[in-house]
Amino acid sequence: MRDKLLQVLEDTADVYVSGQEISRLLGISRTAVWKHMEELRKAGYEIEAVPRKGYRLTHIPNLISADEIKSRLHTKTFGQKLVYKEEVTSTQEEAHKLAGKNEPEGTVVAADKQLQGRGRLDRPWVSASGTGLWFSIILRPDIRPQNAPQLTLLAAVAVTEGIANASGLQPRIKWPNDILLNEKKTAGILTEMQSDPDRVQAVIIGIGLNINHDKDHFPPELQSKATSLALENNGTAFHRADITASVLRSLEYWYGTYLTGGFGAVRRRWEELADTIGNHVRAVSRFKTVEGYAEGITDDGVLLIKQKDGTIEKIYSADID
Ligand code: BTN
Repeated sequence: MRDKLLQVLEDTADVYVSGQEISRLLGISRTAVWKHMEELRKAGYEIEAVPRKGYRLTHIPNLISADEIKSRLHTKTFGQKLVYKEEVTSTQEEAHKLAGKNEPEGTVVAADKQLQGRGRLDRPWVSASGTGLWFSIILRPDIRPQNAPQLTLLAAVAVTEGIANASGLQPRIKWPNDILLNEKKTAGILTEMQSDPDRVQAVIIGIGLNINHDKDHFPPELQSKATSLALENNGTAFHRADITASVLRSLEYWYGTYLTGGFGAVRRRWEELADTIGNHVRAVSRFKTVEGYAEGITDDGVLLIKQKDGTIEKIYSADID
């Protein structure tokens, strides 16, 4: 109910809305409206109350909470079931547990802080409190395990567009799924799977959004490679729930497009948003370094690099310079 009340207050932020109108809209008593208002105030919202005029929301704290995100969601299922925790080991772990308990598609686990955030290639993911938003979503597509990497590219498209829609910034994608602003990483995506030999049970997509970090929030070795939306916006912070809700909306859109129309549209959009394709690149993996012209990606999300001698090398996993 608190998320619905917030939605009413945010939708009418320019005008006063009476307690009677709120109680009619939400189908609850005026006493219940008053109690929920008090809870919101305790959580840091400033709500003006003027006799015979009503209530007006004057300040939204830059909190992240289930209510904050849910009141901004324009989705059918994604994030409608949302578990929010102030601190977790990793939202991936939590989401894996929930997926194993048959929680439905679209369930999200979000956190303000992760103690052991995980990145690709077993790297740690810096996830301090009050800066970004760390979340994992459970998907249950009826696809073969070998097609799951398509969802990683889908998530990259969705995160890029979700950030752009909510912030006006224009991120680009670096293969396979780094989201960059000014050539520095502002978001990362980790896709993991629970699967039978020929059928996917669940795909857990973990998304880390660097939103309001200062430079000092990143360890020295990352400062030249990592950035945040605020840093690329002249230091002006964003509401973390706005960005998160926008990413979830865009994820739901692209997932729906994928399920009904296949990978083609996702792939075309990925290629438009990706800086890697059409450039000379160096793919560095644990086993080898491949250098050449990035021709494109396959339907499995594999990167194709044309080397000097004309041979095409398939890159499954690497860092791109
Ligand atoms: C990358 O290396 O680029 C992927 C980073 C993914 C980080 C996110 S934050 C939410 C989720 N929980 C984790 O432990 N990792 C992912």
